[in-house]
Amino acid sequence: MSDTLALGHSAGQWCSDEDEGAETISVTFVSEKDGSETTVKAPIGKHLLEVAHDNDIELEGACEASLACSTCHVIVEDEEFFHRIPEPTEDELDMLDLAFGLSETSRLGCQVIATKELDGLRVKIPSATRNFYVDGHVPKPH
Ligand code: FES
Repeated sequence: MSDTLALGHSAGQWCSDEDEGAETISVTFVSEKDGSETTVKAPIGKHLLEVAHDNDIELEGACEASLACSTCHVIVEDEEFFHRIPEPTEDELDMLDLAFGLSETSRLGCQVIATKELDGLRVKIPSATRNFYVDGHVPKPH
């Protein structure tokens, strides 16, 4: 009898949990530079670049998510998670080709949208980026 009571009580606790309405998932960013890990709540529908910036995580995004650079390059740690992310577009693949330290599970952070399936996602932020968007600008010789 007391079992039933205990169950009812704990169920009530779950219901009163925070974040009603605003659905989030947990995403961990791992810095390759210093090995530090930061786990944040990513609102469903936001892309990883936005999530990183909202949480003061160092992830470049030179072109501000317009698919014109590769500085938002992230590496998905777990292959299983990698396959849960919708396939990259041709444009993303073209940009990824320019990314420094490209790996089998590389993606552009600004193209990965937080969805429920990605709860628990871990991504590495490479220690270097190749910024053609900014650095590639060569002044015309006279
Ligand atoms: S911020 Fe430039 S492609 Fe993602």
